[in-house]
Amino acid sequence: NGADIGVYGLGTMGAALALNFAESGFSVAVCNREADWVAPFIESAGPLADRLTGAETLEAFVDAITRPRNILFMIPSGAPIDAMIDAITPLLDDGDTLIDGGNADFNDTRRRSAAMEGTGIHFVGMGVSGGAEGARHGPSMMVGGSDHSWQHLRPMVEAIAARFEGDPCVAHLGPDGAGHFVKTVHNGIEYADMQLIAEVYGYQRDVLGLPAPQIGAQFAQWQDGPLASYLVEVTAAVLAKTDAATGLPTVEVIFDQAGQKGTGRWTVIEALKLGQSASAIEAAVGARGWSSEKDTRVMAEPLLPSGRQDAAVVSAEDLEMALLAGRIIAHAQGFRLLWAASAEFGWALDMARICEIWRAGCIIRSALLGDFVAAFRAELPADHLILAPSLRGRLDEAIPALRRVLGAGVAQGAPMPALSASLAWYDTMRTARGTANLIQAQRDFFGAHGFRRTDKAGNFHGDWDRDDTPA
Ligand code: 6PG
Repeated sequence: NGADIGVYGLGTMGAALALNFAESGFSVAVCNREADWVAPFIESAGPLADRLTGAETLEAFVDAITRPRNILFMIPSGAPIDAMIDAITPLLDDGDTLIDGGNADFNDTRRRSAAMEGTGIHFVGMGVSGGAEGARHGPSMMVGGSDHSWQHLRPMVEAIAARFEGDPCVAHLGPDGAGHFVKTVHNGIEYADMQLIAEVYGYQRDVLGLPAPQIGAQFAQWQDGPLASYLVEVTAAVLAKTDAATGLPTVEVIFDQAGQKGTGRWTVIEALKLGQSASAIEAAVGARGWSSEKDTRVMAEPLLPSGRQDAAVVSAEDLEMALLAGRIIAHAQGFRLLWAASAEFGWALDMARICEIWRAGCIIRSALLGDFVAAFRAELPADHLILAPSLRGRLDEAIPALRRVLGAGVAQGAPMPALSASLAWYDTMRTARGTANLIQAQRDFFGAHGFRRTDKAGNFHGDWDRDDTPA
């Protein structure tokens, strides 16, 4: 009797998923590039070892799995996936499915799916969120691929998924790259949310002069309100921690340079390619980039005038509401991008279902997602999250607070790129008459690009008198 599923790659995520499958009652074949990881992994699995079959070669691995095979790769994205596909496909049979569970670029997933088309082998791009803990005890999973693959995979992924009030946080979202695209946007929203939180932390640290534990206590308190979320919970826990070596708050001894592996950047790139701008996400990606210029910032601090001015101190409630506004807007931008991609690639993404499978297991799980589910299930004007009546109600209170916080932050010189980008986008979207008339006039003036008129149909040029141009 063969294994129900094969897991290739026994790094943190692969190992955790293999154990999760085993614990859910499935038999799992495991394999790893460094074959000597396999036996120690099985030995460390305790009673679950009975459900694990170790394989030291690709042939033995494939042979150990029941047909039609489900084979999950948990290896670095990019070239390693292509190499594995090339190595394993000659060993497979019609109807087998290869699953890439890494953070892959959805363009690669589309390319790989297309290359596999007609070979009888199916390719699934599956976004997995929740970190190592989630992978072990319940991740949120975003699946792209064929109905055939989903039919075989479904019972297994539903069994290992996180559950929100009993509903497994996994869904088949569409063909080819749909799952990886949704995961990428999930990560983009994750970047934005983390940046928004960091800006509110920065205001409290640098303008209000509060110590980390006190800021942490504030975040902990917000967990009881509309901001309740995994990332706020993590923030509170992190800020409460003391570094054993120095006795300082741990955050104080952490170098202020953020890493990034690419998913946030991909979100922004894809947004721009689709004619969108997920500006809050973009601000978050940019802020991580600027953070890496540590030496320049150290040099610049005494050189550049701050122009700082007095400002009214904002209340904790204002900070809470500003963060809520930013979070709603970052999600609205992310969903707008999903909407654009869905139209472009013909995916028919179910936005409400995406919100549902993000309610547990993933990094951006939050109370707000429940509101979004309801908003998407109801009649949503222009398919735009910020226009949902329930969210407009929240924004009624949150937008004035966002203005007060930004007013104070801007006056005091506290950088708030994601909060500012959120408000700028919001103000743009709620303004019926924008300023692009001037952009069009400029374009026509120097490039004769033409413009539409407000009073009649057609394409027009201005009667620009270039001789009148001031020198
Ligand atoms: C998740 C996370 C996970 C990982 C990201 C972080 O959903 O579980 O998003 O995928 O934490 O890779 O990305 P950066 O390393 O770019 O911050």
